[in-house]
Order: sequence, then C-alpha cells, then structure tokens
Amino acid sequence: MSKPRILVASLVFPEVVQRLAQHFEVEAIAEGEQWPQEEFARRLADKDGAYITGGHRIDAALLAACPRLRIVSNMAVGHNNFDVAAMTAAGVQGTNTPDVLTETTADFGFALLMAAARRMAEAEAWLRAGRWQRWRYDMFAGSEVHGSTLAILGMGRIGQAIAQRGAWGFGMQVIYHNRSRLDATAEAACQARYVGMDELLAQADHLVLVLPYTSEAHHIIGTRELARMKPTATLVNIGRGGLVDELALADALRGGRLAAAGLDVFEGEPEVNPALLDLPNVVLTPHIASATVPTRLAMANLAADNLIAFFDGRGALTPVNAPVRFSQGKNG
Ligand code: DGY
Repeated sequence: MSKPRILVASLVFPEVVQRLAQHFEVEAIAEGEQWPQEEFARRLADKDGAYITGGHRIDAALLAACPRLRIVSNMAVGHNNFDVAAMTAAGVQGTNTPDVLTETTADFGFALLMAAARRMAEAEAWLRAGRWQRWRYDMFAGSEVHGSTLAILGMGRIGQAIAQRGAWGFGMQVIYHNRSRLDATAEAACQARYVGMDELLAQADHLVLVLPYTSEAHHIIGTRELARMKPTATLVNIGRGGLVDELALADALRGGRLAAAGLDVFEGEPEVNPALLDLPNVVLTPHIASATVPTRLAMANLAADNLIAFFDGRGALTPVNAPVRFSQGKNG
C-alpha cells in the first residue's frame, strides 16, 4: 500500500517535517522558496493532503484542480483561508490548531494593549534616536490600564483568557460582545459582562479584537465605530487585519480621535498600509501573537497529528468542518 502524499507548503520545524516523513511521502518547501497560489495549486494537484500555515487559499477552484486531496491541515487556529462549505462539498477535511495557543496569544494581546496604552514603542524609538535631553513630567504620558474598562469583541477561548488577565491581574471592568452570550459560569470565570456593540464601543478604555474573520466581520471597526469610541481609548487587533478599516483607523489616530492602537495583523500582510507606518501612536508587530517556541512547536505538532490521525483512520483531531473519514479505496 503506497503512503499518502503530503505537500508541506510552508516552512515549519525540521523535526516536524521529519515526523511527517515517517508516515507520508512528503514534498516540502525549502528555505528561500516561495510558492504563490498558482505554484501551490500545481504542486498540490497530485497530493492527498496539505500542511499549510494559513497563507494559501483553499477554495472551490483549487479543490476542483486537486481531485486526490482529502485533508488540509492549517497550522493556525484562524482558518479564514478555508472556504469551509466548498471543502465540505468536495469531501475534504479542514483542520486547525485550537487550544495550544490560547494563553500565549492572550499574553501577547495584553502586552500589545499595554505597549500601545503606555506608549512604549514610541518612547523607545525616541530614546534610541538620542532625543532624551531631560526628564519632563508629561513625557509619553499615556492611558491607565489597571482599573480601566477592558472591552473584548469576540469572546472565544482567547478572548476569555484576555478577560481573565484584565479582571484578575489588573482589576479591570470587563465587558464583551460576541455572536452568542457566554453561560453564567464562563462569565463569572472572567468577571465579564455582556453588552451590545454600541455600549462596547462607547465604554471601552481599551478595545481588543479577537473574533474570527468572516465576510460579515469585514471592517467591523470603521469610521462609524471609531467615532463612537472615547478619544482616549486604545484599539488592539490580534484577530485578522480585515476586521479593521485601516485607513479609517489611521485617520482617527492622526486626528486625535483615538489615542493609540496595537496591531499584530494587517489586511494586506505582509504589506502594511503606509498610512499606519508613519504614525507614532500605533504599535505594529508582524503577526506574532502565538510566537513562543513551545507554542509554535505545539501548533506544528498538532497540525501534523491531524494528518497522521486522519490517514490512519482515527479521524482528524481538531476538524473545522464535518468529520471526513479516510478510506484507502478512494485514492487508490
Ligand atoms: C492563528 O493561529 O490563527 C494565528 O493568527 C497564526 O496564524
């Protein structure tokens, strides 16, 4: 019986590629290579499975060109690169890497909130530029974090972990908005109060976006929403770039209608909107919220485990669509 063929289309820990090679016939991208979507599709055409880190789109056109494909394993919790309905219709399993990154990503979201609210990046750049001549009472005076109102849009696992940090570590009043309200036990665990979107925006001293990106959530924060926020507020985005209208945000930051922002994700990443690059009151990081060595390794191994469990017949461990069962017969 031949081994399933897997395309590893993103760079990943060599030991994880070696693990995959014990189970599968693996074609893996090499350091320095880049496979744009067309090249990815060409290489995937004769594969049974794919291992990706979220950059490649899995849509109906790609699926039609890859008749053998049975599973795509995303090394990311977000899977907005998947057309889930098209995958389900084609009988292709999609998987992601939830849970293993929750606390690490929450740590980073909180760090970004603090860096933006307390103007750390701006102060550091100023100091490095040799501009510190004397101390002033109002140097880089920012907004209070402890005791303030923490607003969270998207109250899944990561949102709840951020809420716990705010409530228990910083004595913050936590409010949240989500598609569905948490049950009373979960609300009590993070001392969070459910509010409508308008109240969330109006009350926020710090607003953290951690909801999944979908077409309905496109630019969920734009001119209208920013106008409802306090001019002293901070906006943090660790979800996906498309949640925020970046031009509207840059405009609000430049015009003093919003105090600060911390952004880890961008609509056209790795390109960053030039309107943001020139602003001192925004902290910009390159999509690294889950980037600690143990967490990235756990994500990489879970993505590999999903492929291994799928092809040995146990079924994917963390599917994002209806479970698909692999049968050797279908692909020969
Ligand atoms: C995730 O896991 O979704 C992170 O954003 C990394 O892609």
